[in-house]
Amino acid sequence: MTNIHNGRTTKDGIRIHEASDFAGMRVAGHLAATILDEIAEHVTVGQTTGELDRIIEEKVNAAGATSATIGYKGYQHASCISINHVVCHGIPGEKKLKDGDIVNIDVTVIVDGWFGDTSRMYVAGKLARKPERLIEVTHEALMKGIEAVKPGNTFGDIGHAIQTFVEGHRMSVVTDFCGHGIGRVFHAPPNVVHYGKPGTKPVLEPGMFFTIEPMVNLGRAETKTLADDWTAVTRDKSLSAQFEHSIGVTEDGCEIFTLSPAGKFHPTY
Ligand code: MF3
Ligand code: CO
Ligand code: CO
Repeated sequence: MTNIHNGRTTKDGIRIHEASDFAGMRVAGHLAATILDEIAEHVTVGQTTGELDRIIEEKVNAAGATSATIGYKGYQHASCISINHVVCHGIPGEKKLKDGDIVNIDVTVIVDGWFGDTSRMYVAGKLARKPERLIEVTHEALMKGIEAVKPGNTFGDIGHAIQTFVEGHRMSVVTDFCGHGIGRVFHAPPNVVHYGKPGTKPVLEPGMFFTIEPMVNLGRAETKTLADDWTAVTRDKSLSAQFEHSIGVTEDGCEIFTLSPAGKFHPTY
C-alpha cells in the first residue's frame, strides 16, 4: 500500500498535513471564495435559487474544477442555498427571492484533489435591521472561533468562543450540524462543534485542516429536516444565518484558505 500522504493521523483520526499541502488548499479555497465573490451581483429580487446554482456550476466548470456536492450522497447541485429560516442544505430550485430575503450560499469545489468549502450570507433587496444584526453576529462568531485556533488550544476552545459570543447576543447556536475535517476528502474527522467547554480535546496541531461553519438562529436552536431529506429549518421558523471557512492550523495560529479575494463578507458592503 502506498500512501499519498506523507503526513500522519492522530489517534482521533485527524490527518496532520505537510507544509506543502497548504498550497493545494490555498488554490481550492481561493476558487470557492472567488465564486462567492462573483455570485453576489446575481442575488437580486426575483432571481431563482436554481439560476444562482446554474451560474455557480458554470463558474466551477470554467475554472476546470469539480463540484464536490454534485453526486455527494445523491445531492444534485453545485451549491446549497438556504433562505431565511432554512438553516442549511437548502436545495436550489424554482423559488424566487423576495425583497429582504437573507440567503446563505455554500459552495465546495475540488481542485487537484483538494477540497475548498465556504459559505457566506447575501440579501435580495433591502436588508432589515434584525437580520443584519443576526448576520453580523454570525460572522463575528466564526471569526471568534478562528481566533481560538492555534497549536495547544483545543477544539473545545473553538466551540466555547463561538457559543459564548452568540449567547451573549441572546441568539442561539445550532447544535444539530457541525464543521468537519477537510483536505483531500470532503468530510473527515473531527466533528467541529460550535459549542462546548474550554479545554475539551482534541488538541489542535499544525497541519490539521478543518471547517468552522456556525449556524446561528434568532430564536431557538432546534432544527428539523424537511421531507426532501436535505433542507434543514428552524423549528420555530426564526431566521438563521451561517458563515463557513476552511482553515489550516499553522505553527502560530491558522491560515484561512477561503478568505474573500475581494475582501467581502457583509451582504451590503
Ligand atoms: N458544504 C456543506 C458543508 O459545509 C455540505 C453540503 S453537502 C450537500 O459541509 F450535499 F448538501 F451539498
Ligand atoms: Co463544510
Ligand atoms: Co459548506
